[in-house]
Amino acid sequence: MAAKKGLGSVPVHGRRVLVRVDFNVPQLPNGQVADDRRIVEALPTLNHLRAAGARTILMTHLGRPEGRRDPRFTLRPVVHRLSAVLGQPVPLAEDAVGVDALQRTARLENGQFLMLENLRFHPGEEANDPGFAGALAHLGELFVEDAFGTVHRAHASTVGVPKRLPSVAGFLVEREVRELSRLVEDPAPPYVALVGGAKVVDKLPFLTSFCGRAQTILIGGALAFPFLRARGYDLGSSLAEPGLETTVAEFFRRAESSGTEVVLPTDLVVERPGVAGAETHPVASIPSDASAQDIGPETRDRFAQRFLGSKTVFWNGPLGRAEDSRFRAGTQEVLSRLGAVPGYHVAAGGDSARIAQDLGVSGSFAFISTGGGAALEFVQGLSLPGLAVLPDA
Ligand code: 3PG
Repeated sequence: MAAKKGLGSVPVHGRRVLVRVDFNVPQLPNGQVADDRRIVEALPTLNHLRAAGARTILMTHLGRPEGRRDPRFTLRPVVHRLSAVLGQPVPLAEDAVGVDALQRTARLENGQFLMLENLRFHPGEEANDPGFAGALAHLGELFVEDAFGTVHRAHASTVGVPKRLPSVAGFLVEREVRELSRLVEDPAPPYVALVGGAKVVDKLPFLTSFCGRAQTILIGGALAFPFLRARGYDLGSSLAEPGLETTVAEFFRRAESSGTEVVLPTDLVVERPGVAGAETHPVASIPSDASAQDIGPETRDRFAQRFLGSKTVFWNGPLGRAEDSRFRAGTQEVLSRLGAVPGYHVAAGGDSARIAQDLGVSGSFAFISTGGGAALEFVQGLSLPGLAVLPDA
């Protein structure tokens, strides 16, 4: 997609700059930030604003509090971590709009930050309510969109505010757009998509988008089960998503007519009731009481073979239940073998960044997106409202 007008092209000294960040971060049960990657990735933008003497007002959502003030979703732990990462205290306004936010904004000095409380405490955020968007826009003179993870949402802070203020893309959004565009516009062939995870219903449009664009689609995780079933394999008591026969058949038709090869597992690591360890079986002979949890060694090898000679590889979703040490070898081995192959490798969507980090294979990728659903929609070539609203460079 065309590059967006960027933060580097506008003066910010002494100006009130309203920045949409995506600090929707995983938390521990006590509320502490469990993974600060989204905060750290916003640093280029935040450091630039600080060094240039902007008065920065940050806004984000956290979780899905559904338009109500809910203490479980307060941004208090987030500003705590942000202050540590920035090495500078970031106060939290008690609400995203209203007197406290206005007064604190007016008192900001050059180089200082303020965080607004969770945008989704207001129903007007997700509804893109004009009154709420107007009240947010009133706080700033310039809008910076740096919340790549949220650009697929047409909310007040992502669409309503940039319609009301001069707007630019922050450095994180610029980088995400630049990197992910390489997958959408003319990816260097052979292009291999490696997709795992569980929810077939959610992933089917995404998988289908690779037909004709990628030379090969490798499917692992529970995502592979309906495709294997459609090929006639009975997978014992493996997780079943019902009613997918027609869509799966349509996917195979699309892949075949567009010349995209679909590679499915040939063996699976299973769990059986009363059996402590894991067993591996060919897909044609999964015991009736077994449920598949990971791809087997033969499949890992077949997948890794497809990387040889490839120029572009996109990965999303674990190939087995990677959170369980008995069933992470498939994802770990395939991704570490990817690291041994040259080419442009990108990971995106859902928990993929965290899984890559936990498995020690982040180094296999040239770029790991901060986006979940936003990255998957971008890679499909869809227009994202939070980007469409920003002016081109
Ligand atoms: C995400 O984590 O994918 C983004 O922050 C968007 O969150 P949402 O799916 O609740 O809109």
